[in-house]
Amino acid sequence: MERTFVMIKPDGVRRKLIGEIIGRIENRNFSIVGMKMLTPSRQLVEEHYAAHRGKDFFEPTVEFVTSGPVIAMIVEAENAITLMRTMMGATNPLEAAPGTIRSDLTVSMRENLIHGSDSPEAAATEIKLWFPELFADK
Ligand code: GTP
Ligand code: MG
Repeated sequence: MERTFVMIKPDGVRRKLIGEIIGRIENRNFSIVGMKMLTPSRQLVEEHYAAHRGKDFFEPTVEFVTSGPVIAMIVEAENAITLMRTMMGATNPLEAAPGTIRSDLTVSMRENLIHGSDSPEAAATEIKLWFPELFADK
């Protein structure tokens, strides 16, 4: 079993697509083992996208992801990281395959509904970043 960090971005919440997106994840028989709704701080999102710091899309992406509530989730399945990325579809809507969340539900490169960790290292880092309470010393 593998765990990945998944976020429904503010456009997904605003467009009332939480049920649609979670439905797809559950229909695939993935287990949601952690979930919360929050409006993330700039500090949290800058850290989340630290790998993109300095790129031209960094600032607008941070603005967008901090613009309202998101749904943060820990999703568990065999090969969860790769399978979630496949279900999400490519970042560029021109390349997102039909049947994927991004292809079926949006045409925007920025307002692209969902984030999923792109490697085991990213998944571990992002789960710690978004769910620090799970790692706090009792
Ligand atoms: P995330 O799951 O959000 O990390 O998306 P991703 O892994 O498919 O893409 P990536 O990590 O490369 O980029 C993070 C976010 O920055 C994307 O979701 C887009 O919203 C935005 N982004 C990435 N590349 C571009 C780009 O070339 N142009 C623009 N405008 N935005 C981009
Ligand atoms: Mg990414």
